[in-house]
Amino acid sequence: MTTIHLRPELPGDAPAIEAVTVAAFEHAQHSSHTEQFIVRALRERGQLAVSLVAMERRTEVDGDLDGEVQGIEQIAGHVAISPVTVDPAPAGGWYGLGPISVLPSCQGKSIGAQLMRQALAQLRALPGTVGCVLLGEPAYYTRFGFRAEPALVLPGVPPEYFMALAFTGPVPAGTVQYSDAFEAKA
Ligand SMILES: CC(C)(COP(=O)(O)OP(=O)(O)OC[C@H]1O[C@@H](n2cnc3c(N)ncnc32)[C@H](O)[C@@H]1OP(=O)(O)O)[C@@H](O)C(=O)NCCC(=O)NCCS
Repeated sequence: MTTIHLRPELPGDAPAIEAVTVAAFEHAQHSSHTEQFIVRALRERGQLAVSLVAMERRTEVDGDLDGEVQGIEQIAGHVAISPVTVDPAPAGGWYGLGPISVLPSCQGKSIGAQLMRQALAQLRALPGTVGCVLLGEPAYYTRFGFRAEPALVLPGVPPEYFMALAFTGPVPAGTVQYSDAFEAKA
């Protein structure tokens, strides 16, 4: 039997999170293949406002061991959320979701959706937070309420791939900048 549960990143998770991130993005379109360095740089800067892992636990009854239940646990997915700046500055804090990664062998089983929903719930609960942006495939992220908002711009990317979700109030007009951790190359 396989079960999934989500929990915040713990000390010691970093190497497994990097491995999941590398594997998830290895064949991804529109990838810089630096996502693992971005997560690491966000962690080093103390900018992981939300860092959740999805733990996959497989249990099987071992016939050779008198029916003893064997359990194997691994990190199967991860999502990061970090603060962004908006110019001009709106009232309230805006954040960027991503990178989000699910091991290729575990994709298509709603682990990504669970990570999205729980990460957004955790973000919403942070004091002063009013919204979240992300860069990704509209076909996937619109199901979580994200929409392209022409007035909120991330320079240099096709506008239809840059989406926002306001928790309270309207989506502001302005130019978004992610942490410089997103420039990390090693
Ligand atoms: C994107 C990702 C996190 C989704 O995780 P997942 O556990 O496979 O997603 P779920 O099981 O919740 O949802 C599966 C659905 O998402 C769709 N989907 C997954 N990746 C998609 C993409 N890049 N574009 C459009 N749709 C996508 C699947 O087609 C499937 O659609 P359906 O529900 O209509 O059948 C995962 O596929 C992944 O790690 N991809 C590689 C890394 C990446 O591209 N990350 C996002 C950019 S930051």
